[in-house]
Amino acid sequence: PPTLRTLAARHDLRIGTAVDMSALADDAVYRQRVGSEFSTVTPENVMKWEVLEPQRGQYDWSAADRLVGFARQHGQAVRGHVLVWHNQLPAWLTATDFSADELRAILRQHIFDTVGHFRGRIWQWDVVNEAFNEDGTLRDTIWLRTLGPGYIADAFRWAHQADPNAKLFYNDYNIEDVNAKSDAVYALVRDLRRQGVPIDGVGVQAHLTVDAAPTTLRQNLWRFDRLGLDTAITEADVRMVMPPDAAKLQAQADVYRGVLGDCLATRHCISFTVWGFTDKYSWVPGTFTGEGAANLLDENFRPKPAYDAVRAEL
Ligand code: XIL
Repeated sequence: PPTLRTLAARHDLRIGTAVDMSALADDAVYRQRVGSEFSTVTPENVMKWEVLEPQRGQYDWSAADRLVGFARQHGQAVRGHVLVWHNQLPAWLTATDFSADELRAILRQHIFDTVGHFRGRIWQWDVVNEAFNEDGTLRDTIWLRTLGPGYIADAFRWAHQADPNAKLFYNDYNIEDVNAKSDAVYALVRDLRRQGVPIDGVGVQAHLTVDAAPTTLRQNLWRFDRLGLDTAITEADVRMVMPPDAAKLQAQADVYRGVLGDCLATRHCISFTVWGFTDKYSWVPGTFTGEGAANLLDENFRPKPAYDAVRAEL
């Protein structure tokens, strides 16, 4: 049977997964499936600032380079994740009270170093991640506090200078539906475009649950499309209260199918990435107490109803 990536290619869509580098190194079945089923990959952790620059000025590109090498061997495009975020920052950065001038120079350097290192090998960069609160106000982070809201436009300009060919994305969660948060993202990216800031797309994470399918995702993607932006589903998973049963697994399949269908119905929705594809390796149980089983394959790599639903939709 054709793989997911073959089916997706017929729609000009890339289908992707986040990749856990320990699993990629240690688990041959995992490695085989990443290579065969997907046409784009996202490093789950190894392009985050705390991994890339654990000590100031001392970069460790090794794990990220391994992923980029794997992708090249398998004809996969890489989603770079992530340049500006408030989580998984190195201690040297968060433990010191830098002045605005210092912090701005640090952020600029980080973006030039990182985007420059991978120049020409990254398809889409998540330039800014999770900058908004649920009510649509800007999140109180080290970046907003110290640099003010202009850090967002600056980050996109610097990333574009460092790799003019990469597609630059704003990425966030709980922006699947039309709501206060996605309205704020819409206003931001519209204004950035008007100002000539180089932004190419909006990433919708899609960390979802079986009992809350998005209802307005399609119209939401379409309004970004109308601005001339690409869109992407960047981190899809659909968690449930454990243990799974037939009804929850069917509900999960319906949510995955709906999200993929909305992406397929959007002209410039260019990739559909899941945040892990097997319940064997998932961030969900460690983050959401009592929840799990959020992925397309079970912990033995057996297809769940969600996998069949995604295949059928493609
Ligand atoms: C998560 C990873 O999956 C975990 O392994 C890590 O401990 C924390 O980060 N939104 C994002 C991702 O943009 O980077 C997060 O990834 C999940 C939520």
